[in-house]
Amino acid sequence: MQDNLPNAPSKSKLGFFKKQWLKYLALAVFSLLVAFLVKLTFTGFGGFVTALSDKAELSQIFALSGIMAIIMFSLFFYIFQTKKELLENKRILAVILLSILLTLMVSILFGKSISVSLMPLALSGLLIGILIDKRVGLVSNFFINLSFFFTFTIIFGVKEIMITSTALLSGIVSGTYMILMMEKTYTRMKFLLNGLLISLFISPVAILVATFMKFSLNNVLYTGLWTFLSVTLSVSLFITVLPAFEKVFKLTTNFGLEEICSFDTKLLKRLSTEAPGTFNHSLAVGNLAQLCALAIGENPQLAKAAAYYHDMGKLKDPLCYVENQSGYNPHDDFIPEVSVYVITQHTKWGYELLKKENLPDVIADIALEHHGTTFVNYFYNKVRKMTEDSVERKDFSYGGPIPSTKVSAIIMIADTVEAATRAQGISADPSVMRSFVHKLIEEKQTQNQFDNSNLTFKQLKKIEDTLVEALPGVFHNRISYEEKK
Ligand SMILES: [Fe+2]
Ligand SMILES: [Fe+2]
Repeated sequence: MQDNLPNAPSKSKLGFFKKQWLKYLALAVFSLLVAFLVKLTFTGFGGFVTALSDKAELSQIFALSGIMAIIMFSLFFYIFQTKKELLENKRILAVILLSILLTLMVSILFGKSISVSLMPLALSGLLIGILIDKRVGLVSNFFINLSFFFTFTIIFGVKEIMITSTALLSGIVSGTYMILMMEKTYTRMKFLLNGLLISLFISPVAILVATFMKFSLNNVLYTGLWTFLSVTLSVSLFITVLPAFEKVFKLTTNFGLEEICSFDTKLLKRLSTEAPGTFNHSLAVGNLAQLCALAIGENPQLAKAAAYYHDMGKLKDPLCYVENQSGYNPHDDFIPEVSVYVITQHTKWGYELLKKENLPDVIADIALEHHGTTFVNYFYNKVRKMTEDSVERKDFSYGGPIPSTKVSAIIMIADTVEAATRAQGISADPSVMRSFVHKLIEEKQTQNQFDNSNLTFKQLKKIEDTLVEALPGVFHNRISYEEKK
């Protein structure tokens, strides 16, 4: 555990040029390819072949690739300075390049066949913002729109520069709003509605700009209409292609997380019918984990989804876990070694099941990590009483690994607190409740369970405060009987 956030960005510009040169070569090749593709899409195959033998046309293609390369270079330099680790990930690089290419091609098709104002220029910024990072999405949206402005001015001609400027403005403003709203938008439908709202706001702005630029009345009205439709088109295309990006690049978004939290999904349906006790426990952990995630600025949607799936491994034999038992306890018939095996293996079984069912990696990883390498005291003591041989502590521990992210650590804490509350009830006295929660967290801390999670002491304290505040509301019917009296 540490006191400060890790990964302060490297300020070495020299390092950037030295280490990333291969990527920059690839970027230059990408820009050249894009310029050729742009020309091909714009002129069609016949025109493209003619252009290849025309010096003026060829120099236009090279000018286009040069502009594209410079702007892409600036974008990647920004990413290197702020989120260097993103550039190490090939999937992320592919998402950036593919979303740029897709937006460019679709925009040319719409710009050429209908109107330059209809081009869905916010598309790539939206994809990068949701699939990679909000800040990178915002900056990408700006840089990419800028590169599109130059590209379209070159291919559509300078006479269209005014109208291209309104498209650029619409792309930057609408993209910025939509990316900022993403964090709190959990369904695709709500996102589409937000898009419509922004369209309503942005088209009068385009009308004003067109009026200011002295367009004819007809053109002013068309600019307003196409701008309205361009934002709607960006959002509709974004919603259409996003599932393919999520699947191909195995990236998780809030939309995808919301969808796997539906009780209609195969595994949650199974959990509710085959292991109802675990199902209710998972929902309660979900409530607590969401509040904790919000308190420390982590993604509450991810915390909720991870909590819903953390104990899926118990589906293998639901009756072996206390929350699903009503009277009969199979462990009465097991030797302690078997009991401890069944209990500690549910993290691994859950991980395997989630992987098999194609749940996001991050959800499967948290299922594997949610007990870390903690120790099952009860069965250890039971065996020690029964035998005179030495007993290995590690044989009575979960297999780990320990939580590798803040949300994973939150699930471990919320899970422990929920289970302890279910077993013991909670106190109506706030100070007793605080020491109850504090002790549970401290126990994990002394077993070094949060060492890889990047949680700070301050955040751990916030999580404790949140749980102390939330427990009476979540478990109002479990205040211990003695205290109620
Ligand atoms: Fe568990
Ligand atoms: Fe659990």
